[in-house]
Amino acid sequence: MCGIVGAIADRDVVPVLIEGLKRLEYRGYDSAGIAVIDGRDVRRVRRTGRVAEMEAAAGQEGFNARLGVGHTRWATHGGVTEANAHPHISHGVALVHNGIIENHEEQRERLRQLGYEFESQTDTEVIAHLMHHYLKQGNDLLAALQRTVKELTGAYALAVVSRAEPERMVCARMGCPLLIGLGEGENFVASDVSAIIQATRQVIFLEEGDTAELTRTSVRVFDGDDQLVQREVHLSDVSLASLELGPYRHFMQKEIHEQPRAIADTIEATIDGGFLPTLFGANAEAVLKDVEGVQILACGTSYYAGMTARYWIEAIAGLPCSVEIASEYRYRAAYANPKHLIVTISQSGETLDTMEALKYAKSLGHQHTLSICNVPESAIPRASELVCYTRAGAEIGVASTKAFTTQLAALFQLTVVLGKLHGRISEEEEAGYLEELRFLPGSVQHALNLEPQIALWAERFAPKSDALFLGRGLHYPIALEGALKLKEISYIHAEAYPAGELKHGPLALVDADMPVVVIAPNDKLLEKVKSNMQEVRARGGELFVFTDQDSNFSESEGVHVIRTPRHAGVLSPIIHTIPVQLLAYHTALARGTDVDKPRNLAKSVTVE
Ligand code: G6P
Repeated sequence: MCGIVGAIADRDVVPVLIEGLKRLEYRGYDSAGIAVIDGRDVRRVRRTGRVAEMEAAAGQEGFNARLGVGHTRWATHGGVTEANAHPHISHGVALVHNGIIENHEEQRERLRQLGYEFESQTDTEVIAHLMHHYLKQGNDLLAALQRTVKELTGAYALAVVSRAEPERMVCARMGCPLLIGLGEGENFVASDVSAIIQATRQVIFLEEGDTAELTRTSVRVFDGDDQLVQREVHLSDVSLASLELGPYRHFMQKEIHEQPRAIADTIEATIDGGFLPTLFGANAEAVLKDVEGVQILACGTSYYAGMTARYWIEAIAGLPCSVEIASEYRYRAAYANPKHLIVTISQSGETLDTMEALKYAKSLGHQHTLSICNVPESAIPRASELVCYTRAGAEIGVASTKAFTTQLAALFQLTVVLGKLHGRISEEEEAGYLEELRFLPGSVQHALNLEPQIALWAERFAPKSDALFLGRGLHYPIALEGALKLKEISYIHAEAYPAGELKHGPLALVDADMPVVVIAPNDKLLEKVKSNMQEVRARGGELFVFTDQDSNFSESEGVHVIRTPRHAGVLSPIIHTIPVQLLAYHTALARGTDVDKPRNLAKSVTVE
């Protein structure tokens, strides 16, 4: 969703801001803008559409400045118009904002009475006017910001510049991530490390309620009580290569192909040292031993990872496990069992609904929380007692791929650790699980080798308007994930059902025009799935079956089969994710959609 970048330097910052905004494009946005302090003037350019259009406009205006802020906006308050795009300006103060100000209407009324006029429908414009109001009262830029944020309820990451103080920039964080990048004689602010990684790797993650002041050569951070504080400097491990496309056509394709590496990195510690509770934090052993069940909360693809984990946790760790969509859980009078571990799953670590569900669970009395996340220092892991970072590396494609399979790898490790701590797993079983994990990256690579065959199938899917995905047991969530991937990026309407449920409704949809994808690995449910497939064939439906090398299956009229390598046992859902990702990708490619930035979607969903 929205993205922030700001820079103060002894060189022209316009290229830094533009490059930063381009690196934030993946988050999803619909307008972009920059404001720079040029001499004693604030100059601004904003455009709806792509950053490239805004860049061209800035080029024509001949922008050149040593201080400025930039923003990509994903519309919430007010439509997609230039007037609503950030930065917003009030009497020489320019600012960019991520988040939502809940009391903006009340502030707007108050500011109107003070004589301020509004040019946009955004909640953000009230912050610009409030800043000016406090500057007019004699506060300097930092003090004005510290006064302003105390008037705001809601969530914000803010970066502010003023023509009256061309030697500094100020920023603030509450509920939305914001970090400071430390350069040599130059400093930066960004909502996401990828926006500034070309300039520096040294970063300070602001904490909730922090404000900060940046000059070219200094950074001062203040806590929520406006007290000067020291915050740790981190060396970011996000690599520039992970943000570049390389030889691939799309980030999604690149990220699908990065999965063997991403999974290998995520399971590395377990392969080296076995299934140890320390993977989830220093005091994980005591916590995980104490819990009597698991409640998983997540959204989107992460929710499907949670659904898969439920099968593992109940079958292997012998603990009750529920999974719920975070946006549902947070608004219902849920029955809380404080002995149950709350597990949030989020690739971004920022999803508002998941964050709010976590807070709600705590308010219901849950004391033990664990976050599985791909972005270090993001909000959800910071609010959790235990954390396991997946090591997928930066994921740029909006449709999640490697983040999903690494979440599954992390959840499997959690399952075995829980099983061990609760005495449900023998040494022999543990050794078997370790062996299966060891094979996993190689098996994923084999599944990737199916790409040419799957691309041929995709040609047949491209003209369709609907598709049905079926799976059973552990593979039902993978059918759901396959349908989600297809609709997200190819815009084909796709639904997934547990294959046994077919006859209770969706069978009415089946005809020769409806391709039916079946995930049918060689497990104990295979014969059941085969019967469900007969139900489809008998109604003229065409079947596209993903199965394993060792399953007894043959192609026949209307039944197409692609075989993944040998049956991967309990980790089979991870292997069977690869073909459904590739099918969605190649179908989207054949339909010519914007694979990495599908319409209306965003990578980090920081609104309700
Ligand atoms: C968005 C993304 C999805 C993601 C979902 C949950 O919709 O486009 O790919 O699955 O949010 O995000 P999270 O970061 O919490 O996993």
